[in-house]
Amino acid sequence: MIIAANWKMNLTKKQATSLLNSLTNNINYKNSIILFPGFTLINTVKELVSDKKIFLGAQDCSSNKNGAFTGEVSAEQVKDSGCDYVIIGHSERRKYFNETDSAVNLKAKLALDNGLKPLICIGETLDQRKSGDTIKVVRSQLDIIFKDIDASKTLIAYEPVWAIGTGLTAKNEEISEVHDFISNYFSGNATILYGGSVNEINSDEILSIKNVDGVLVGGASLIAEKFIKIANFLQK
Ligand code: PGA
Repeated sequence: MIIAANWKMNLTKKQATSLLNSLTNNINYKNSIILFPGFTLINTVKELVSDKKIFLGAQDCSSNKNGAFTGEVSAEQVKDSGCDYVIIGHSERRKYFNETDSAVNLKAKLALDNGLKPLICIGETLDQRKSGDTIKVVRSQLDIIFKDIDASKTLIAYEPVWAIGTGLTAKNEEISEVHDFISNYFSGNATILYGGSVNEINSDEILSIKNVDGVLVGGASLIAEKFIKIANFLQK
């Protein structure tokens, strides 16, 4: 299983160090752990996890290769900073920074060209779910984002937008339906994580659903005891 932590725009170096010390001392490393700290924390995290089985990723990269794009960070720079992964197309990027599926496609290609494994996020809004359009929306996202991309070289996170940071998790049947759809879309050659209010109480059940290969955890990944419990999931 893959247990990924999206720290979002949180933590100073001191706070990250303290969280990491608890994690590295208590995680059993039976699952693959990937941490996604903010850019300024990458170095600190890298140093603290260098001899541990924890992988490192950034939360975004530019859709441009390099050049005059003030404030942007390229896929090449992400790789150069010591990361192996990068989150792309998170719904918060789509919502607050108008990121489109085509931009996500460009970013994913640049990530792959630079030796990074993109963790590509997709998912429907509450309105789309209420109108019964979930599968239609997910299919359209996959059609655009994965144009000329080999899904087996990526990780996919199904994150219903309405479940992110809200405390609402999708029901098991809802998770199953979408994960099965994505898995079939790629003829079984995709690694699919679930994300959206995953916590230490619901994680075991979510990780036991067929075609769920891991979880992407936001809020609960900032609290050591919660993330340790999620990370130490033991497959039955
Ligand atoms: P959450 O965030 O666990 O706080 O809902 C998940 C995510 O945004 O990836």
